[in-house]
Amino acid sequence: MNDRLVSGQQNSDETSSESGLRPISLKEYVGQDKVKENLSIAIEATQSRKEPLEHALLYGPPGLGKTTLAHIIAKEMDVNIKVTSGPAIERAGDIAAIITKLKKGEVLFIDEIHRLSKVVEEILYPAMEDFTLSWVMGEGLKAQNINLNVEPFTLIGATTRFGMVGAPLRDRFGLTYRLDFYDQTAMELIIKRSCGILGVVAEESGIRELAKRSRGTPRVANRLLRRVRDYAEVVGNGKITDTVAKEALGKLEVDPLGLDDLDNRILRALTDKFEGNPVGLDTLAASVTEDPDTIMDVHEPYLLQLGFIKRTPRGRIATKRAFAHLGIQQNKPGDLNQLNLWTTED
Ligand SMILES: Nc1ncnc2c1ncn2[C@@H]1O[C@H](COP(=O)(O)OP(=O)(O)OP(=O)(O)O)[C@@H](O)[C@H]1O
Ligand SMILES: [Mg+2]
Repeated sequence: MNDRLVSGQQNSDETSSESGLRPISLKEYVGQDKVKENLSIAIEATQSRKEPLEHALLYGPPGLGKTTLAHIIAKEMDVNIKVTSGPAIERAGDIAAIITKLKKGEVLFIDEIHRLSKVVEEILYPAMEDFTLSWVMGEGLKAQNINLNVEPFTLIGATTRFGMVGAPLRDRFGLTYRLDFYDQTAMELIIKRSCGILGVVAEESGIRELAKRSRGTPRVANRLLRRVRDYAEVVGNGKITDTVAKEALGKLEVDPLGLDDLDNRILRALTDKFEGNPVGLDTLAASVTEDPDTIMDVHEPYLLQLGFIKRTPRGRIATKRAFAHLGIQQNKPGDLNQLNLWTTED
């Protein structure tokens, strides 16, 4: 489990503290306007036809609100939600047992859906398509083909790794939504809302500073808010002002852009050690002694968003903006410009 302060991933002790701050209706869910708009149209239309909602796939970096949105969808549809995750469903029989228990229109939420095993995925295909289950129970001579009709249900899948969800599974989702990092205005609203719930007093300027350093990620914002509140209580009167926020976050080593020490080490490796040349993920991870998955899920998306790194077919490179941010002279601007021409999105 990754316990870095600016990680969008959930820390080991956050499950209960998060539930109190989780919005429970689409109205309360701040930002992601396009997703909300499309989703409310889909919900309204299916409700008027009295049908279950189509299966929905939610993807995007950790901490942006996928789980929250899944619960909201069930609530707005006024149905129960059953929650599980890719790694938790081991055998064909496990998924079959879950699906047969679902009542009409209920939501099955599968988190980390990219980690489903092949056998489980294969049970899901016909279940998603025409609400039938077929699997083999037992082995050898005792093996039995089981075919069952189940009640129509809505599968909601969530993943931080859209690329790892195979095409056959992906194609069976009628609705696919990508969650993006939140902008400054949305982050300020999220922090204000959390202040209201937690009973924290904060000045506009303090909220602005917190929002700036929260990496466009609500989970990070709520985590930093708690830490800054502690600091405000210890050094002052509990009120979060601009100065208090800056001081507290400075002590926590979260810089004005929300970068932490690992982000800076990644940038330094790309600019200094590899001198602006393309670097593969594993080499980069080894050079900063960090897990490649953490770099890929947490650090890379935000550095890409800031325009500090780019992905090329030959690896990650630091951009001119990263060199400028670190105040470093770029050695081979000609080479870098050429590399930028190949930049791809994947
Ligand atoms: N749109 C939002 N408005 C307000 N708060 C939000 C919003 N989205 C998320 N949050 C807050 O951020 C926290 C983390 O969100 P959530 O658990 O839904 O993220 P996630 O995308 O499922 O992350 P992971 O990939 O780690 O599973 C929630 O507990 C909630 O308090
Ligand atoms: Mg989640």
